[in-house]
Amino acid sequence: MAPFHAPYPAGPAAQVDVYTTWNKVWQCGGVGQCGTCIVEVKEGAELLSERTAVEKKKLSGKPESWRLACQTLVGDGEKSGAVTVATKPQ
Ligand code: FES
Repeated sequence: MAPFHAPYPAGPAAQVDVYTTWNKVWQCGGVGQCGTCIVEVKEGAELLSERTAVEKKKLSGKPESWRLACQTLVGDGEKSGAVTVATKPQ
């Protein structure tokens, strides 16, 4: 698992490297199409932005705790705390 700390102001969750070597090669550049950045949020979901339309489509049928790191913002400028995620959920 990898901890994120909510930045101020809000920023992308990609401050932790969620990709393994080959996923870096195949990743889509953050447009929400490849799914290589899927993480399972273990703690701190309340600090994250709402799922984007792209996430809703890509993660349809998947647990609500799953997010695309490339689409997720951490922090809203008012709340602070830690977010913990597991990479490559099964
Ligand atoms: S980098 Fe491709 S879906 Fe996130």
